Amino acid sequence: MTDLTAMQADLSARVTAAADLAALEAIRVEALGKQGSISELLKSLGKMSPDERREQGPKINGLRDAVAAAVAARKAELEAAELDARLAAERVDLTLPPPPERKGRVHPTMQVLDEMIAVFAEMGFALAEGPDIEDDFHNFTALNFPPKHPAREMHDTFWLPEDANGERKLLRTHTSPVQVRVMQQGQNRSLPAWIAQGQAPPIRVIVPGRVYRSDSDATHTPMFHQLEGLVIDRNIHMGHLKWTLDAFIRRFFESENVGTRFRPHHFPFTEPSAEMDVQCDRSGGSIKIGEGTDFLEILGGGMVHPNVLRNCGLDPDEWQGFAFGLGVDRLGMLKYGVPDLRDTFAADTRWLEHWGFSAFQAPNPATGLS
Ligand code: PHE
Repeated sequence: MTDLTAMQADLSARVTAAADLAALEAIRVEALGKQGSISELLKSLGKMSPDERREQGPKINGLRDAVAAAVAARKAELEAAELDARLAAERVDLTLPPPPERKGRVHPTMQVLDEMIAVFAEMGFALAEGPDIEDDFHNFTALNFPPKHPAREMHDTFWLPEDANGERKLLRTHTSPVQVRVMQQGQNRSLPAWIAQGQAPPIRVIVPGRVYRSDSDATHTPMFHQLEGLVIDRNIHMGHLKWTLDAFIRRFFESENVGTRFRPHHFPFTEPSAEMDVQCDRSGGSIKIGEGTDFLEILGGGMVHPNVLRNCGLDPDEWQGFAFGLGVDRLGMLKYGVPDLRDTFAADTRWLEHWGFSAFQAPNPATGLS
């Protein structure tokens, strides 16, 4: 006869000692599984005499219930312990700073371009654009560059291969071809009236855009940005050009005291022509605008050459105007102290992280725009 009391004591002790759920399950199968020791005892009831069964039945059932209850209790204990262990291991520390979120930055050139556009927009300039791939006519011929003139080479032009018509297009070397396009468009009466009207004189446009020259050093990159200005009206003279550029420089550098200097120069498409320098101090290894006795060249400009007006269908006796071309990237370098122009277009995100601007900054005090 099996000693049920000893069996229950042994099983209960092992159940209580089970270290984990797997060990507990092994004991449960051993006792209560189909071929488990308690199940075998229950099966043996069928072979007993009714008297024996009446005596053993309650004891064996009691043993089964006691062991099943012990298993359930231990199981609950082990599950709770397992949950506690997971909670401890996977705890979230809400006091830790969140990992840095990667944010896009506004490229300094685009920031500077926006600032420039805002200043000129306040002065009443409209925006015009033209193609990066130009033809010889708009980039050179209409702008009064004589054919085969070395000035065409001076621009270090990127020429494209000859096309099917035997024509070689080029990457525009300056934004001046858009002057030609704007003036021509004003004369093109076949255009819808609302476009022709907008572009016919008086004209007051700025043209921001990319330009290309085969050149590379600390202050030159093969692609850079210019901002062209063109004003055509009656009785426009150099005084208007000087005032406009002086006013722009003061707004752009946010200082009333930036000295400027106009030096005579030559461009085929303006007469007279000038280059404008801004006052700066280069003594401390960096350039400070509006201080010191040095000057730095930042733009070219002049009165639109009568030949250019004629090439665009305007009568020079009726219309005059001025034009200028500013180096956007260079002005940005000066305003924000960017040391090397080549890094500006190297697409290095660490550089952009450092020199870039937040897209959501406070309004610019110079322009009132953000
Ligand atoms: N297009 C000239 C350049 O790129 C600048 C310029 C523009 C000069 C307009 C005069 C008038 O150097």
